[in-house]
Amino acid sequence: MALITRYALLLLTAASCALHTLGLPTTDAASDNTLTWDDAYTKARSIVHRMSLEQKVGLATGMGWEKTLCVGNTYASTNPNFPSLCLQDSPLGIRFADNVTAGVSGITAAASFDKVAIRQRGEYMASEFKAKGVHFQLGPSVDIMRAPQSGRAWEGFGEDPWLSGVAGRETITGIQSQGVIATVKHYIGNSQETHRTTSSSNIDKRTLHEVWTWPYARAVEAGVGAIMCSYNLVDDTYACENDYILNTVLKNEMGFRGLVMSDWGATHSTVESANAGLDMTMPGDILMGDGFTYFGANLTKAVQDGQVSDDRVTDMALRITAAYYKMRQDEGYPDTTLNTFNRSEAPEVLVQGDHATFVREIGAAGVVLLRNQDNILPLKTSDLKKIALIGSHAGPIPQGLNGCPDQSCGRGHLAMGWGSGTADFPYLITPTDGITARAGGNLKLVHTYDDYDLDGARELAADADIAIVFAMADAGEEYIVVNGNNDRQNLSLWNNGDNLIQAVSEVNDNVIVVINAVGPVLMPWIDHENIKAVVWPGLAGQESGNSLADVLFGDVNPSGRLPYTIARNKDDYGAHISSDAELDYSEKLLVGYKWFDAKGIDPLFEFGYGLSYTNFEYSGLSARVTRKQGAGAQVIASITLSNTGDRDGAEIPQAYIAFPKSAGEPPKLLRGFQKVFLQAGEQKAIDFEFTEKELSVWDEESEMWKHSEGEFTVHIGASSRDIRASASFII
Ligand code: NOJ
Repeated sequence: MALITRYALLLLTAASCALHTLGLPTTDAASDNTLTWDDAYTKARSIVHRMSLEQKVGLATGMGWEKTLCVGNTYASTNPNFPSLCLQDSPLGIRFADNVTAGVSGITAAASFDKVAIRQRGEYMASEFKAKGVHFQLGPSVDIMRAPQSGRAWEGFGEDPWLSGVAGRETITGIQSQGVIATVKHYIGNSQETHRTTSSSNIDKRTLHEVWTWPYARAVEAGVGAIMCSYNLVDDTYACENDYILNTVLKNEMGFRGLVMSDWGATHSTVESANAGLDMTMPGDILMGDGFTYFGANLTKAVQDGQVSDDRVTDMALRITAAYYKMRQDEGYPDTTLNTFNRSEAPEVLVQGDHATFVREIGAAGVVLLRNQDNILPLKTSDLKKIALIGSHAGPIPQGLNGCPDQSCGRGHLAMGWGSGTADFPYLITPTDGITARAGGNLKLVHTYDDYDLDGARELAADADIAIVFAMADAGEEYIVVNGNNDRQNLSLWNNGDNLIQAVSEVNDNVIVVINAVGPVLMPWIDHENIKAVVWPGLAGQESGNSLADVLFGDVNPSGRLPYTIARNKDDYGAHISSDAELDYSEKLLVGYKWFDAKGIDPLFEFGYGLSYTNFEYSGLSARVTRKQGAGAQVIASITLSNTGDRDGAEIPQAYIAFPKSAGEPPKLLRGFQKVFLQAGEQKAIDFEFTEKELSVWDEESEMWKHSEGEFTVHIGASSRDIRASASFII
């Protein structure tokens, strides 16, 4: 017992040191309805210390694939009593369940650049997970979009670690405020599907800290209960048995006090994994469904043989039970009413409330307006008689609603990618549905869903006042291949999209292109003079068509921003999918827009870009150092924002920091954004605050965050390339 306590104390000390060194605010306070970790550990200790070795091991071991109600369940313990915990996908809603909300994907939540909405999304999702008795939501994903083709980047928050950190933090805070344990994933370097279980992501330590672990550090500050280690290897050691990334970085440097669970089937050993910091193996099996496990009796034996210490297993059990107590799941948690593998046997439990209203709103908030010539948008219904809707993507999914495994249809309206990061649609409002509902009886709508009948499309478009062409690009998780893709094979539109857009543009001079895509696409038609508007609504979930119509008709003034770069050419990007076994992250810090900035490449639509129906002006930037280095350097930049147009709307001012040259950083790094609503004619002063950590770099020699010294510049603007004001400060 004494040993156990000392071990726990050691971890505690490590945790508080790490946080102090970084000068970060700890969120280990019960401000979000959760217990502090300290209080949770007190409760955890009182039960775990009464458990046998086998009982502790049971908490850390999944009961097996397709053996239980959820995609993963732990073993329960009796005397002392502790329940079997239910773990369920996904980051956007409850997978394998009926009567649930299928909301916007992570990438579209990120495109809203709206912290409040992102938190509310976490709250409503978790309220559904809790009502169905799910203890762990397997999300959010903070996998950074390294290569634009990556199959699952749409589950996460885009190409920038700072944005991913904020979106992850808000999502986690929202989820956990409802009493559900958030599971942030996939730790780490899981940035492509190709050979995801056999390739090694090789990342130098500075890049690892500044880019890849950044969102996890923010998740830990937000008190995240669980982290899922990934399938891939990191520097030639499997992520789930990698001592450096689990013990050193996550548990010691970041002070993570929750549990590390494996991705499904990502555990490859007993002793190495346990000693490297893995706390729970999921779904238990060695190979999915084989009934064997690396934990269970194998872990018990490893302890008896002295290869894994009893303290280590106690620590696993403490971490698992502490996450449970932190989220107050002992205070009356609903029974699990999912039945993942026998859906028809699940009792009917309605959990959706009016979440659809929120999904519609955040969907509209995530619409990015890329082009709007001649102010063709919002649609002026009084001037229009006929609109042609062209492309299968405007209509229903031909295979039927939820007609393909894990949403892998690849046809019809796209409102989420495919794979485990999905939920079943209760219904799907297509663009045609949404536009029809809003257009009213006086406006005639005609449509064709045939993407290959170009003559038919031309004919329909030729005599319409406006032709809206719909196209998409899909992607998803490795275990399903659609038309040769999980990672995308190319960045082109699917289903003849480019030809369709081109054909319609030949015959109608008021073309609006609407693209729902998992990530960037190439736009060979972009310079066509008849393409007046390009609208980018992301992956908007069940209310997709309504969210789109809200923006097209001007009920919502668009304010969404690109969470990634859309390049002119594929080769402009700094990283691509590779089939090599060794994936060297040779772009280092130059992920996403930082590559384009550093190499002087002009993107087609840059990170952070998005138009509004009104105009905003920026004035009077000042930057001041409020606390000197050593006492936690902190800088505040202030600027005044005015809505100079004639419509109310929200602007997303973004703050980018350029470090002193000697720091060796990319030309600029996102370090702040806000969503500011301004009525027409209104102006507002806003502040951006930069913490010590945000002005530091990871020093490989000392293995610590270190302040950069010298002249910094803060750039504030409407996108990463539309900088409206800059100011310098010295620290
Ligand atoms: C594998 C996926 O990578 C992970 O994200 C998911 O949570 C598990 N499968 C469980 O379905």
